[in-house]
Amino acid sequence: MNTPISTAPVVKFTNVALGYGDFTVLQGIDIEICRGQVVAMMGGSGSGKTTLLRAATGQIAAQRGVITVFDRNLANVSGEDLRELRQRMGVLFQQGALFTDLNVFENVAFPLREHSCVSESQVTERVLDKLDAVGLRTAAHLKISEISGGMARRVALARAIVLEPEILLYDEPFAGLDPISLGITAQLIRSLTDRLNCASMLITHDVAESFSIADHVYMVGQGKLIASGTPRDLSASQDPYVRQFLDGQPDGPIAFHYPTSPAFSKWLEQHTGRP
Ligand SMILES: Nc1ncnc2c1ncn2[C@@H]1O[C@H](COP(=O)(O)OP(=O)(O)OP(=O)(O)O)[C@@H](O)[C@H]1O
Ligand SMILES: [Mg+2]
Repeated sequence: MNTPISTAPVVKFTNVALGYGDFTVLQGIDIEICRGQVVAMMGGSGSGKTTLLRAATGQIAAQRGVITVFDRNLANVSGEDLRELRQRMGVLFQQGALFTDLNVFENVAFPLREHSCVSESQVTERVLDKLDAVGLRTAAHLKISEISGGMARRVALARAIVLEPEILLYDEPFAGLDPISLGITAQLIRSLTDRLNCASMLITHDVAESFSIADHVYMVGQGKLIASGTPRDLSASQDPYVRQFLDGQPDGPIAFHYPTSPAFSKWLEQHTGRP
């Protein structure tokens, strides 16, 4: 842990604004992730964490500022180049998105068959190795409908790492896991980052688990970056947003209710027939 920053960042956001259409979710975002680092992205529900992941993988463009991945400005890469960059990234999506018509083994084998020309015996070896890493080697033959929600997340994790990517992006990897699997998955993210010397962007609500493995933590909220520092820095922070999040207090600057908007007022008016 606390890996020295010896190389240039492989993911870099400089004064970035992100959103959808006219709606800006986050602005003034500066983020750096280097090889060998686990960087946690934290914030309340709807604060824009998944939006950050979409921006890092080029699924959405920055409304303002510059995003570079492997020193390439994502605003200037062609579709073909973006596909090549993405092959160097492994993503664990918030909604696991396994192929339900393939069994566990074939789900994990899928990226290998799509993006590399390895022999069938190598496919078997690599897939069983990755399934072993998530504790599911002996579930290789099962259908997706035969495994539990937590097992499905671990299969999705094995699939995200099967190409041994240089950047790993995890969106809520701990959701739906029991405490034992949760601890093992956190340690797995740490050890994979160290073994592959890859850069890991870890999106999570889980303070204890992420603080135990992260080198650096960014916290987003209220449309901006609220805090940035080591887990130790954040633990000592007196910022009311940081404190509310870390201490899980119901009252504070983070609102539970989703904010209202002109689009909601219009919908309500149409729905109820009353202004
Ligand atoms: N495809 C989309 N089109 C329009 N608005 C969107 C879209 N996806 C997300 N949003 C909005 O962007 C904001 C941030 O959403 P995002 O999914 O990034 O939040 P999050 O921090 O990942 O939340 P959670 O912890 O619940 O997963 C929310 O207000 C959401 O309604
Ligand atoms: Mg999300």
